Amino acid sequence: MSLPSRVQLIDVGPRDGLQNEKQPVPAAVKIELVHRLQAAGLKEIEVTSFVSPKWVPQMADNAEVMAGIQRQSGVRYSVLTPNLQGFEAALKTQPDEIVVFGAASEAFSLKNINCSIAESIERFAPVVQAALAAGIAVRGAMSCTVGCPYEGDVAPERVAYLAGLMKQIGVQRVDVADTIGAGTPLKVQKAIEATLQHYDVDQVCGHFHDTYGQALSNTLAALQMGVWNFQSSVAGLGGCPYAKGATGNVATEEVIYMLHGMGIETGIDLDKLIDAGAFISDFLGRKTQSRVATAILNKRAG
Ligand code: HMG
Ligand code: MG
Repeated sequence: MSLPSRVQLIDVGPRDGLQNEKQPVPAAVKIELVHRLQAAGLKEIEVTSFVSPKWVPQMADNAEVMAGIQRQSGVRYSVLTPNLQGFEAALKTQPDEIVVFGAASEAFSLKNINCSIAESIERFAPVVQAALAAGIAVRGAMSCTVGCPYEGDVAPERVAYLAGLMKQIGVQRVDVADTIGAGTPLKVQKAIEATLQHYDVDQVCGHFHDTYGQALSNTLAALQMGVWNFQSSVAGLGGCPYAKGATGNVATEEVIYMLHGMGIETGIDLDKLIDAGAFISDFLGRKTQSRVATAILNKRAG
């Protein structure tokens, strides 16, 4: 077992977390959340997505949010771009990294981005080319790498197939996502193994939703394979509008608590992160989904 000594976290709360919120969240609140995340030491933040506002109304303020952020040097701000139209809009806001997002299951690809896997790759290819030409980094999200809300179990071969296509079009690193949070450690390891046929371990990020309470175990399983990049969501915000019933990503607070307890560095100040989570949970009028945050807030209250 060779565990990494340092882990890099991407907080996807402002995007994956908030995209599914029914109540309007003003751009100013999203901007404040990003400011609090960077103040807590996050070096990568997934800010928003340039998708159709008819499909995902909560992300319609993408340009306003990007323009409102007081950027910190050394922080990477990423945005989702499903096609050239989204990329062209995103380009004006100067993201450091764009994310094309595909799925290992055909049914999810159709529901989420309205095209087959093969068609999605055709749409992504010019986006990737344009981004790289503009000096913007490119990540590829791979949804449903262990399970699909429409097809059930997803075979590792499907993951290898998608990772191979992503590699062919020039995507620099990929997210192995358990979109519906149904995965368990050995299944997640198989999905990562399949991805490693095409990407080096340094180019693989774990993205685990916590619907069935497995996300932290899945994180540990990935760490044991040497994966050291993970996505998580402050206060456990979120869910995907096209994965009904799926809850948020693993809470960033949970991941930090586990990693720091294992002596693995993250550069993140857990107390400040808990304040960021309390800020957005208060705004949404609900309790944090993070048990670590709950425990520490209870302790603070004495
Ligand atoms: P489409 O309808 O197939 O696109 O949607 P189209 O090219 O036929 O265009 C139709 C209309 O959409 C046109 O407008 C376009 O202008 C507009 P109209 O003429 O009807 O007024 N349009 C756009 N508008 C703004 N930005 C764009 C854009 N593209 C077209 N980029 C599309 C295709 C991908 C746009 C659509 O299906 C969509 O927006 N889907 C939303 C996908 C999404 O955001 N899903 C959630 C994020 S993925 C996720 O959460 C999973 C992840 O976390 C990993 C994991 O956990 O698995 C990443
Ligand atoms: Mg997700």
